[in-house]
Amino acid sequence: MIEIHNLTKVFGSFKAVDGLNLRVEPGEIFGFLGPNGAGKTTTVKILSGIMRPTAGRVSVAGYDLATDPLAAKRAMAYIPDEPFVYPKLTGWEFMRFIGDLYSVPLSDQKKRIPELLELFELAAYSGELLESYSHGMKQKLLIAGVMLRRPKAVLFDEPTVGLDPKSIRRFKSLLADIAREGAAVFMCTHILDMAEKLCHTVGIIYRGRLIARGTVAEVKKMASGAFGPRSLEEVFLELTE
Ligand SMILES: Nc1ncnc2c1ncn2[C@@H]1O[C@H](COP(=O)(O)OP(=O)(O)OP(=O)(O)O)[C@@H](O)[C@H]1O
Ligand SMILES: [Mg+2]
Repeated sequence: MIEIHNLTKVFGSFKAVDGLNLRVEPGEIFGFLGPNGAGKTTTVKILSGIMRPTAGRVSVAGYDLATDPLAAKRAMAYIPDEPFVYPKLTGWEFMRFIGDLYSVPLSDQKKRIPELLELFELAAYSGELLESYSHGMKQKLLIAGVMLRRPKAVLFDEPTVGLDPKSIRRFKSLLADIAREGAAVFMCTHILDMAEKLCHTVGIIYRGRLIARGTVAEVKKMASGAFGPRSLEEVFLELTE
């Protein structure tokens, strides 16, 4: 569902992403891990079509971002690390805007928008302008918009930053739901505990290069530890030393 071939991104003389190869299958929740500045956000920005690669190719749902960007974008959702919403729309208007933009049938929108706003405890604020929403409320609204669309691939850049514990739990269960429905999830995160519990597979990027990729169990075996089972956190810290 998501394919990355020999992806390279150079800023000036600095290689932020260096020959990255990755595939995420339908129904797979992939956790993209790596220290600050490793190249995670750069990779998802290229996948989402808002940044051009220096070299290499990315495709989503079989559509090449370079040659068929509209079809690729229609099939995916992207939630950036800084939630952006139009400040002069209300929560309700934002959801209708997303619904219409992505051709969600009106009958579906009328049924599901109130359900989703309720689920994320935004119903009481749905008539308020988004400029008055907190960071976490904006983030939840963006997630609700993704759920309304049912895209084939979802890119999340540190999606739980700013969410309260109850919202995080709800987010995790929704993520499992959308993967069960066959979507591919590509999620950058620093929360290794969440990655360990929620992701089917993980990849670790370090200085622009993929240094580990596999199921959590496989990646854990990559580090040398001779002292029995270890947490993903210990393995991550060893591999990125
Ligand atoms: N527009 C840009 N111009 C120049 N350098 C950039 C640009 N965007 C990113 N970089 C550099 O590329 C590297 C990778 O950045 P990126 O944002 O992809 O890291 P990240 O893995 O998402 O880190 P974090 O965990 O802190 O979010 C960093 O060294 C960053 O300074
Ligand atoms: Mg980042």
